[in-house]
Amino acid sequence: MRKFSSIVILTGAGISAESGIDTFRDSNGIWSKVDYREVATPEGFARNPGKVHAFYNKRRRGLRAVRPNAAHEALARLEAGFDGSFLLVTQNIDNLHEAAGSRKLLHMHGEVNAALCQCCSMRWPWTEDLTINSQCRWCKTTGQMRVDVVWFGEMPYRMDEIDAALTNCDLFVSIGTSGNVYPAAGFVEQAKLAGAHTVELNLEPSEGYSLFDEAVYGRATEVVPLFVERLLAGQDDTPADKCGTG
Ligand code: APR
Repeated sequence: MRKFSSIVILTGAGISAESGIDTFRDSNGIWSKVDYREVATPEGFARNPGKVHAFYNKRRRGLRAVRPNAAHEALARLEAGFDGSFLLVTQNIDNLHEAAGSRKLLHMHGEVNAALCQCCSMRWPWTEDLTINSQCRWCKTTGQMRVDVVWFGEMPYRMDEIDAALTNCDLFVSIGTSGNVYPAAGFVEQAKLAGAHTVELNLEPSEGYSLFDEAVYGRATEVVPLFVERLLAGQDDTPADKCGTG
């Protein structure tokens, strides 16, 4: 594999599927069981905050029982072993990338283990249940706390940093995402415009599969570690020890 100097990785729900976290749009995905308009829109929260709190409280509690898998761990190895610029952008609200050791990480759709006060806009790490009686630790307002997740119709976080990284990258890799949700689904085109080599690693072709230069289809825990191994091997420019003289 050729040598790269700047990598952007995008991950979606598929990378956490084998850790036991449901994806959204697969046959038995979350949105086949729950109407996203009721639990993942500001309007749904205004209509029935209790229902929304219950939905994310269940997901937050569920995180206590799951562990990062070989795909998460491989990306942490890549970050540690790659000496160019590196950014891991995740659409996931779970904490499995952090648990695997990733640090150059950006949650563009927020985090379930965080809460936001709609009154003073302060954000807090939050691992307990949220209710309509939860109080902001700063302004002390009650009933205005919500999970710090980006809902449909809201702007994703830190888009400036993401745009800058995509404009400067020479390798873009998309892992475990169906390519249904923008702006994430448009990152491959941004990266291509910047001249980057683009790779899709997914269980099946995504909506934007034809935009990628290269694709490997299979389970993340199988295809991601292999891809990372190849990539890191390609970055190593120490001359092969052809003569075996050590
Ligand atoms: N390994 C690799 N890929 C997998 C695996 C697996 N074990 N299991 C499923 N996938 C793939 C599916 O084929 C699908 O293409 O992961 C993708 C999951 O797609 P979605 O469920 O649509 O999830 P995602 O793309 O992350 O959703 C984007 O939509 O619902 C909103 O805000 C939410 O961040 C989410 C966004």
